[in-house]
Amino acid sequence: MSQFNADYYKRFYGRGGVHDKRRIAQLGSAVHNLCAWWGVAPKSVLDIGAGPGLWRDWYHENFPKVRVTSTDVSEYACKKFGHQLRDISQWTPPRAFDLVICHGVLQYPDDKAVEAAIKNIAAATRHVLYLEVPTLLDFHTIVDASSTDMEVHQRTGDWYRELLDPYFVQAGAGLWVRRGGDVLLYELEGTK
Ligand SMILES: C[S@@+](CC[C@H](N)C(=O)[O-])C[C@H]1O[C@@H](n2cnc3c(N)ncnc32)[C@H](O)[C@@H]1O
Repeated sequence: MSQFNADYYKRFYGRGGVHDKRRIAQLGSAVHNLCAWWGVAPKSVLDIGAGPGLWRDWYHENFPKVRVTSTDVSEYACKKFGHQLRDISQWTPPRAFDLVICHGVLQYPDDKAVEAAIKNIAAATRHVLYLEVPTLLDFHTIVDASSTDMEVHQRTGDWYRELLDPYFVQAGAGLWVRRGGDVLLYELEGTK
């Protein structure tokens, strides 16, 4: 049976879990409005590895006109929370989305699968990617082991950066701007 089953979602999204509706409301509002500030208020959003679907629900509640596509590799999550069944390491989205969200997902696939996944994420992103993936350093310094799944791949930030760099400029706070897209950052708004 897949590790992403009912017990998994109960454990990490029940009481004392990784995050919840209230926290995603804070983050969703920040991400959406920063995109708007950059002139690319999202009209279409792809949520990869959507799990309980907190981002999708936040969008439906706050920006019902935004088209949200939510996907997950877990058959259980797709059935229970209503997503398309997609493995991001094997699925190249047929079109680009204004905003792509990949929150707490890339620590699960192996190295080769993440390489493929990042190519697919790049193909899916028209303007902005929100990416959160805990790194080796994070696991040793700030990750709360009581609420976080520790049975994952622990890779360095530089390992991820090297794969992301051909496609994205890191703006910070989890936001990555698509190279060649409409968002032009001031020098000190992002990294080189
Ligand atoms: C920690 S949960 C994150 C859920 C959601 N993004 C959130 O932050 O609330 C990780 C999710 O990633 C999904 N996942 C893992 N590997 C994946 C893959 N290769 N493609 C798509 N989804 C994947 C799992 O099924 C699980 O639902």
